Amino acid sequence: MPCTVYAFDAYGTLYDVHAAVARHRDAVGPQAAAISALWRVKQLEYTWIRTMTGTYRDFRALAAEALDYAAALNGGISADTRANLLAAYERLDAYPDVKTTLRALKERGLKTAILSNGTPAMLAAAADAAGIGDLLDATLSVDSLKCFKARREVYELVTTHFHVSPEDVSFQSTNRWDLAAGAHFGFRAVWINRTGAPPEYDDMSAAFTLPSLEPLAAFETLAAPGG
Ligand code: LAC
Repeated sequence: MPCTVYAFDAYGTLYDVHAAVARHRDAVGPQAAAISALWRVKQLEYTWIRTMTGTYRDFRALAAEALDYAAALNGGISADTRANLLAAYERLDAYPDVKTTLRALKERGLKTAILSNGTPAMLAAAADAAGIGDLLDATLSVDSLKCFKARREVYELVTTHFHVSPEDVSFQSTNRWDLAAGAHFGFRAVWINRTGAPPEYDDMSAAFTLPSLEPLAAFETLAAPGG
């Protein structure tokens, strides 16, 4: 049976998390790439630890905490630059394949959704900036659960919302750990391997691996190996 619902991770999959630092590279300084990379890694670490310890703080708060840590470890940034980076994080660039893919899926009569750690306000702002709000049937945020990916309840938001079974859902994520959890839940897991990263989580494997979202609309005809 073909999937009827296409659910997408947001940060890293639809939106380029390094766009904020890229936009303010000169103000951030020579450590810009290191700060951007550590900002992302620390923010994810905070989501996992806060979920495991039951001490939820929302994704916007964790973005600020992670930026502060990454900047402090790399020589610091000014208060203005900090404010500019956090504002930019609210309106990250969407990858160029996002809008065309969502539109093609909608034209085929399929349901589309975002499933993300972001707060509803962050996700609404990002979709607005990307001009994709009208191409989404649902924006599902972990905030209603007060925990983050990769808890099972998060992936259940999709099946509950659309009244479908996990196997009816095609889940796209660039984040291999997120994709592993989606595969474990029973989604058809499609790894969008934008960076050519090596394989991981061999027991929670991707059904398909694609280099970008672009081939997704023609997906049922593809037969690529997993990853
Ligand atoms: C998200 C993070 C994991 O959007 O990228 O949920």
